[in-house]
Amino acid sequence: MAVLRERLLLEVTPVMVPETKAKVTVVGVGQVGMACAFSILQLSIADDVTLIDTMEDKLRGEVLDLQHGSLFLKTAKIRAAKDYSETANSKLCIITAGVRQREGESRLDLVHRNVEVFKQIVPQLARHSPDAVLLVVSNPVDILTYVAWKLSGFPRERVIGSGTNLDSARFRFLLAEKLKISPSSVHGHIIGEHGDSSVAVWSGANVAGVRLQSLGPDTKAQQDSEGLLEIHRKVVDSAYEVIRLKGYTSWAIGLSVSNLAQSILKNLRTVQAVSTLVQGLHGISEEVFLSLPCVLGSAGVCGVLNQPLKEAETQRLQRSAQTLWNVQRKLTL
Ligand SMILES: NC(=O)c1ccc[n+]([C@@H]2O[C@H](COP(=O)([O-])OP(=O)(O)OC[C@H]3O[C@@H](n4cnc5c(N)ncnc54)[C@H](O)[C@@H]3O)[C@@H](O)[C@H]2O)c1
Repeated sequence: MAVLRERLLLEVTPVMVPETKAKVTVVGVGQVGMACAFSILQLSIADDVTLIDTMEDKLRGEVLDLQHGSLFLKTAKIRAAKDYSETANSKLCIITAGVRQREGESRLDLVHRNVEVFKQIVPQLARHSPDAVLLVVSNPVDILTYVAWKLSGFPRERVIGSGTNLDSARFRFLLAEKLKISPSSVHGHIIGEHGDSSVAVWSGANVAGVRLQSLGPDTKAQQDSEGLLEIHRKVVDSAYEVIRLKGYTSWAIGLSVSNLAQSILKNLRTVQAVSTLVQGLHGISEEVFLSLPCVLGSAGVCGVLNQPLKEAETQRLQRSAQTLWNVQRKLTL
């Protein structure tokens, strides 16, 4: 092989291993991890995508399958890590490992099993990539982001949960369907818990700055002639519906995570709803992570938007915080 290479080309400079500038580690090569990895590869935002999982054959198979597509990609290195030392110097570590909901199970039902999984993963990631941003996707994502924060010892801005970025995308898709406008032109945020107690901020939903609420539809249950409340209910039920139909969710969360990865790796400072430490905001006193619109860049969460909320919206956010804290305070980390 060396002879063939020597005959083929005159080497002008020795082959050097370039310094990796945008290394991404994805922990967990299940349905979600692979959808995240694939979407990140499609965006060409990383120069090294390293995957790690405890299921060795599955990991090797998934990585080989991706490597075979290298011709069509623009990511120099795609590799399987045997141990965490091979994830070293990642800029972004995405955690998708752990159990997922079975039909009828809520996200909170997964907490104890996935905390044990995180104890095996987070300290090792933190040791080998002490400057990375940790992006948690595994559920229940808000609680596990808190767990990752505690286990890593990282500053708050570098531990982020994918949170309601996906819920907000579902919200904008459903509103867009109703209005027959592209989701990219329909603005609105779902905040709070990624899950059953999420809060739709109807007061801010708009198209080109035209607030939907200023046009009349009332979102109070009995007067919801436009069926807007139904849209939020559908957002909350979306994951359950997809899991009932195909067994898991993958593509939308993969796309949403790669979009967050792009903001972080390219320091775009886009505003997205992600899970961050909200203690001291909106009257929340508990040490919990919930989604609020955040400015995302290479340092992680660079800022949290001071979003004016209606009294009822604030109260719902505070109730979510209380629900999460009641689970969190019983955890032994
Ligand atoms: N945040 C969101 O919006 C969102 C959306 C969908 C799914 N999820 C969550 O993502 C997680 C993964 O879902 P999935 O469908 O990919 O599950 P999956 O069962 O397909 O994959 C999980 C993977 O984690 C691996 N794993 C388990 N323990 C590990 C460990 N200690 N170290 C490394 N890898 C380990 C497993 O081997 C498996 O490959 C679940 O918790 C699910 O609820 C979150």
